[in-house]
Amino acid sequence: MRLATILSSAAHWSRAVLAVGAVSLLSACDYNFWRMDGHQSTIKVEGPVAKSQLDVFYVTCWVTLVIFILVGAVLAYASIKFKARTPEEEKAIPPEQGHGNPLIEIGLIGASVLALVVIAIPTLKGIWYTYDVPEDRKADTYEVTATGYQWWFKFDYPSEQIAGAGALTTANELVIPAGRPVRVNLRTIDVIHSFWIPKLAGKVDMIPNRANHLWFQADQPGYYWGQCAEFCGDSHAVMRFRVIALGPKDFNDWLTQQTSPARDVAPPRVATKDAPKVQFASLRTFKQNETGHTAKYDTSPLDAWKAQQFPEKGENAALIAQGKALFKEKACLSCHEVRGHGYAGISGPTLTHFGSRSTLAGALLENNTEQLHRWIHNPESVKPGNKMAKGYIDNNIKLTNEDEVALVAYLQSLK
Ligand code: CUA
Repeated sequence: MRLATILSSAAHWSRAVLAVGAVSLLSACDYNFWRMDGHQSTIKVEGPVAKSQLDVFYVTCWVTLVIFILVGAVLAYASIKFKARTPEEEKAIPPEQGHGNPLIEIGLIGASVLALVVIAIPTLKGIWYTYDVPEDRKADTYEVTATGYQWWFKFDYPSEQIAGAGALTTANELVIPAGRPVRVNLRTIDVIHSFWIPKLAGKVDMIPNRANHLWFQADQPGYYWGQCAEFCGDSHAVMRFRVIALGPKDFNDWLTQQTSPARDVAPPRVATKDAPKVQFASLRTFKQNETGHTAKYDTSPLDAWKAQQFPEKGENAALIAQGKALFKEKACLSCHEVRGHGYAGISGPTLTHFGSRSTLAGALLENNTEQLHRWIHNPESVKPGNKMAKGYIDNNIKLTNEDEVALVAYLQSLK
């Protein structure tokens, strides 16, 4: 009987081990799962601020692990050693209860205080360190302002002034110099958002009528995933951004490009009477739930971003000119700016160099022809509750497929 029980429990265990093994094997296919190195990993960090936050996490983990082992061992010892082994022992009256042992109690209080002190010292040091750029690095600091909107991020560069246009402004992609401290002023135009780049720093809230800030540094050039980390309405979960850290030369080239007006593609000299040839034929067959990303941003994101900086080959100049006119005709200009083309809306993201960005719609979709078309065609299906969808309704904007194709071509030409 006893042997049968042991065998049956052994069978249960082997099944459990097999199940765990199978799950592990399946997960093992996801290499990044085991390396804990997804796009938003806080374990594989790439800058000093996130490193400091990770160190505090590990200290807390080790201290709690030691407590777990000690308490677990004492519990296991007591359970086994004082177990009732005979029917007499099972019926026995428990011995008279003591009133505690002063030595053990003082010892436990002392140990608890010690554990808290061990956690508190690095935590306080970490809070100090992450609060602001260290004194000796202040001179090297690059400053930007990030403003949260429902549901996208605006980035201003106060040190890059453009004659007649104020500070350089971009949206959804924060390009920074690698290896230098970056101080970010955090603002919001509407509700509370939170600024978080898991591999680099965060999270700090963007609160109405309150000037918050954080700092971080990307040690190496790279492409990083950012996310709003405070519930802020319908599309909070898809309020994303990217951080692109560049070496000194690349960063200067980027600033030169961004501070220039939008690229202007000259229309063909001989105006064709015929409608411009459609460059692609996706004709509204977008899948509703697809992620909107191709593999290139998973495999070599920074290279993919760099490739995005150059005009595409085989542009259709007539189509682009048509899109440029539609941008005004369909009232896109009332919300969006295209500096140099006479469009100066401010309530939506600036589009001056839209074509050079790797993402669109609050960094939710990859900036490619199909996803851009999908976004323009039905913004509500992509990012529920967004203002562009409302703008279409309020202004009674109706776009034909040909309009959408022309607008896509125009926007992609804005490098
Ligand atoms: Cu913005 Cu959540």
